[in-house]
Order: sequence, then C-alpha cells, then structure tokens
Amino acid sequence: MSQLSAHRGAVLHFLADPGIHSNSEAYEYHDDGVLVIDNGRVAALGPAEHLLRQLPPGCALTEHRHALIMPGFIDTHIHMPQTDMIAAGGSNLLDWLERYTFPAESRFDDADHARAVADFFIAELLANGTTTAQVLGSVHAASVEAVFAAAEKLNLRLIAGKTLMDRNCPAAVRDTAASGERDSRALIERWHGRGRLHYAITPRFAPTSTDEQLASAGRLAAEYPDVHVHSHVAENPAEVAWVRELFPWSRSYVDVYDHYGLLRERAIYAHGIYLDDPDRQRMAESGAWIAHAPTSNLYLGSGLFDFAAADAAGLGYALATDVGGGTSFSLLRTLGEAYKVAQLQGQRLAPLRAFYLATLAGARALHLDDRIGSFRVGNEADFIVLDLAATPLIARRCAIAQTLAERLLILMTLGDDRCIRATHVLGRAVAGTAIGRRP
Ligand code: GUN
Ligand code: ZN
Repeated sequence: MSQLSAHRGAVLHFLADPGIHSNSEAYEYHDDGVLVIDNGRVAALGPAEHLLRQLPPGCALTEHRHALIMPGFIDTHIHMPQTDMIAAGGSNLLDWLERYTFPAESRFDDADHARAVADFFIAELLANGTTTAQVLGSVHAASVEAVFAAAEKLNLRLIAGKTLMDRNCPAAVRDTAASGERDSRALIERWHGRGRLHYAITPRFAPTSTDEQLASAGRLAAEYPDVHVHSHVAENPAEVAWVRELFPWSRSYVDVYDHYGLLRERAIYAHGIYLDDPDRQRMAESGAWIAHAPTSNLYLGSGLFDFAAADAAGLGYALATDVGGGTSFSLLRTLGEAYKVAQLQGQRLAPLRAFYLATLAGARALHLDDRIGSFRVGNEADFIVLDLAATPLIARRCAIAQTLAERLLILMTLGDDRCIRATHVLGRAVAGTAIGRRP
C-alpha cells in the first residue's frame, strides 16, 4: 500500500555543480515548496500553490516554518574509532597519530566497546544532519561490524571499511597483508550490498601498508569493482617526504596508489593538499575524488586545500569532517571553515556551491547520485530540515537577509547541530531538535 506524506517549506536541492553550471541548471529552489514522499522515496517536488491542490486526501502534511528543506548531508570521510579522541591536540599529523590515534583505535578489538562507540557515532551523525557517511573503522573487523550494525538498525545508506595497516604502527593496530585481505573479503561478502550498506577497501595511507598489502588492496579493488576504495593522500609535508623515502621508485604519493590499481571510480582520498598538476590530472582521469576536510586540515596544521587548482584539473572534491582530526561532526561548521580556507588563498567558496559540496557532490563522489544527494523523483528520501531560527542571532540575521545565498552563508557561518530541526531517513524523522535531537 502506498504511504504518502508531504513536507511544506522552502526547499533546495542541486542538479549540477554551481561552480560549473548556471544557477538555473545547477539547483532547484522553491521559497514555498512541497516535497512529497511515497514509501520512503521522493514522489514529487514543486511549488506549494500547485502541489498542495494535488495531494490526495489523507496525505499527512507537515509545515516547516523558518526552515529550509534539503537532502541530508553526506560526509565522505570520517573515522568512527576517533569519536572519543576528538579535540585531542597534537603538534602535527604524524605526532597526533602516534600519541592519540593509534592508542584510541587499539581499543576496538573489544566488540562491546566498538558497539557502544558506533551507536553514539551514528546518533551524532544524524543529530548533525548527516544521513550518509563513508566511515573508516579501526584495523579490527569488530569495529566495522559495529558501524554496519548500528547503521542497519536505522536503515542508513552508509559506506565503511576496516583499515589495512601492516607496518609502521603499534602491534595492537597492525594486521598482515594476508589477514587484512581475508578480513576485508569476509566483510565485503557479509555486508556489501546488504540493505543500504556498502564496503570500502581502506588502506589507511601508504606509509602504514607494505607493498604487499597495497598490491593485495589493488587486487581486491579489481575483483570487486563496485566496492569503494578509501584512503588518505598528501595531507602533510612530513608525510609526503616519508612516502618518498618508503617508495623511492614513485613519481609522487598519488603515483604509489596508481601503481597498485587504487585510483579508480568509487575511490576517495582525503586531503589532497600537496598534489602537483600531474597528480590532479591523473586522479581526475581515473575517476577518483578528493574528500576535503577543512577542520582537520586547520586543526592539525596540515595546510590549505587548493580549490582552484582542483577545479582547473577537473578533479572532483566533496566534503568531509575527518573526525577525530576534524573538530566537528557538523557539515555546517565544516563549510564555514572551507569558506575561510578559500579566503586565505584569495579564492571564493560561493554559498550555493558550498551546499552542493555537502550534498550532491558527495553522492557523486560515491557513485550514489542515482539514489541520494538530491530530490530527483525516485531518489531515497533522506532529507533534513534546517532551522533558520535556531538561535536568536541566526533568526535575527536571517530575518534581514534578502537572498537564498545570504541565508546559506549565515547557516554555514553561524550554524551547527542546533540548526538541524529534523533528520529524515527514507522519509522517517529519526533525529533533530524537533524530536529530542538524537535517535
Ligand atoms: N592519515 C593516516 N591516518 C590518518 C588519520 O587517522 N587521520 C588523518 N587526518 N590523516 C591520517
Ligand atoms: Zn582521515
């Protein structure tokens, strides 16, 4: 039986990249719109004056005042086992990994601990309006089991993988090329394509994998072309120098992944700060994307992502929190920092493009844009209701704003989880300030 519901308010979603396409091609916006959901999927979107008349009797209609309805946010790179060590300090990436990250991740061989943190982690994503994330577990399969189980309870579309790391790390977080491959394969067979879940082959980064392990990851990637590939690249100068020492034959850090068949569609690499143009071109040509993680890049002092150079090379990028190097689960706060990263380089991150990065760009990076990331009819109805009156200051500032772009800039500059009035998964409200914040 058909289950119709409708949501009335300002509605925005993206059809293309506003950095490349004209406004009329890039987004659809209704100041007074209606989003109609049928059995968890988008059935219709249009102006209220037309659609309200067409709603059948008995269709539940929810009115959202002082709000903006958008597709749920997509976080393309986040570490579940780093939830409890967010805001840990550290002087730079490699120091932070050794002092805080590896010890925190070593606890995830304990399935009970993994389940407790994973449940909190998923609740925190939803409270922040994130309906899909690509998640790194620890090296332990139990951590990924816990993330998938927590996501499955709420029927989230989510991607996760166990990190592969067989050198240059403590024994408690180390696997071997053989055990890493065996565990990854078992997790793929058990979870990939189950419900709304997908697997990502996840070598942590080149320095913590031997050639043998990277080759094994590449073989798995070839064997399972619809599985994702997920890692880090060129985040920090000392890391880049280390990669040059460990792989003296390589032209660049990107070349190491390329050599092992790890650059392809459905491959996402976090950071990509220290790339040269041949790297960007090669990544673009391969179909790989960058996950831009500005709060992490600033917090760890890693550097500034060059939006203009990526655009010039046609290299796609989407948005990521990178918690726990990143300092917030909120993609609104992440966008606020991305804006400042652009400013520091004399570049501009237009507000409309920013919200494209947090929604459709993520879906495209993940090759899931035929299901999520926009309100295309038939897509899965994962959406959020952003509160334009979440705080007195935001309400006051939005009341003065004249345009959509101004309101978006206010949200990304002043907003955070207080602005997430509701998060809907397949049409069902599961979190947000309107229902007590967490599932
Ligand atoms: N590079 C390798 N591992 C990590 C990690 O956990 N966080 C970040 N930001 N960079 C990494
Ligand atoms: Zn990361």
